[in-house]
Amino acid sequence: MKLNKISLINFRNIKKLNLVVDNNLTILYGENGQGKTNIVEAIYLLANANSFRTSYYKEMIANDANDAIVSGEIISNQRTKNYKIILRKDGKQAFINDNIVTKFSEYILECSVVCFAHSDVMLFSDSPSIRRNFLDKELTSLYPLYIKHLISFKNVLEQRNDLLKKPKLDEKLLEVLDAKLIELSFHISNKRKWLINKVEEYASVIYQKLTNYQNQKIKIVYKTFLEEEDINIYFEKAIKIYANNLEKDKEKMWTNVGIHKDDFKVYLNNLEIDMYASQGQQRLMSLSMKLAVAELIKNVNNEEPIIILDDAFSELDDQKKESLLNYIYDKQQVFITCTNYKNIIKNVTDKLITLLHIQNGGVLERSTLQDGRK
Ligand SMILES: Nc1ncnc2c1ncn2[C@@H]1O[C@H](COP(=O)(O)OP(=O)(O)OP(=O)(O)O)[C@@H](O)[C@H]1O
Ligand SMILES: [Mg+2]
Repeated sequence: MKLNKISLINFRNIKKLNLVVDNNLTILYGENGQGKTNIVEAIYLLANANSFRTSYYKEMIANDANDAIVSGEIISNQRTKNYKIILRKDGKQAFINDNIVTKFSEYILECSVVCFAHSDVMLFSDSPSIRRNFLDKELTSLYPLYIKHLISFKNVLEQRNDLLKKPKLDEKLLEVLDAKLIELSFHISNKRKWLINKVEEYASVIYQKLTNYQNQKIKIVYKTFLEEEDINIYFEKAIKIYANNLEKDKEKMWTNVGIHKDDFKVYLNNLEIDMYASQGQQRLMSLSMKLAVAELIKNVNNEEPIIILDDAFSELDDQKKESLLNYIYDKQQVFITCTNYKNIIKNVTDKLITLLHIQNGGVLERSTLQDGRK
């Protein structure tokens, strides 16, 4: 997957910007608050129809404008297409080759981009919903059916919760809803478990590469209300669990057990990462998990995703910075943001790197870096 060019109009603090991407690695550098993250957010939006920073798309429209347009050319599966997202105050629209795409779930499947953002450092200490989002977001780009199951699950769960609020419980309807909920739970849970196992496997290798420490043991434990591989046994057990919780559900007027409360816990050398690991270790682990997802997408879809590393290098010591850079050098396309590129690239490199100095929502200077020199 490769972004050839991108245009932004009225996107956050960027009035108008046309960017041609030539080399595999592009570094956007500059002072705080100039628009580096905004530009990579626009790249993410173009490929994914949403943002990694906000779920309120209106935030992305420049304060003094009514709409924002991000358009560009992406090569995916050896085919070059034009993509466009228009953000308006009253909705957003997506286009592929100038044809409107009404289902965003279809647009999302066209391209894949994996982004490590500043907030991902909080992956382990934040609430379980953040970790569920991690699983759901990555599984959506891997399996088209997953998002359909998830949307159906959320709808049925809402219906069940509405039912629990009624003064008299319709038990027949509850039975029907429970059956649907459990079937969907089985499929969703299976995929989440699969992803966790894969991420554990891939991230273990990547973490060792980034840290240069051998024998680091990484374990990711999936926490769900029921683990069972046989669908019939899963169904039987889940029905019992739901029945045992019904009184509590009625009292709280809300479904207390289920995969909507799933979580996972990460252990580094048998210690819970959120409690024992340092800031830098948590950052490296979160990065390794994102890069693991990128590797997984490459293997499942036969296509490398675009990788965005927003402010990923800060807090890392020099050796880890170098290891991270070495790791991403051979990836197909990577965008990095930082305040000072000289903190990242210190040694001689045989790679061509595009440097973009971002100031006040624009590119102040564009240059190419090679052999560690401009
Ligand atoms: N909707 C908007 N309209 C206009 N300006 C906006 C909008 N949203 C954000 N901004 C501006 O964008 C700027 C922040 O840009 P961005 O987050 O890309 O900074 P950055 O270069 O990544 O900085 P840092 O190094 O601190 O991460 C701020 O000045 C902010 O006021
Ligand atoms: Mg930023």
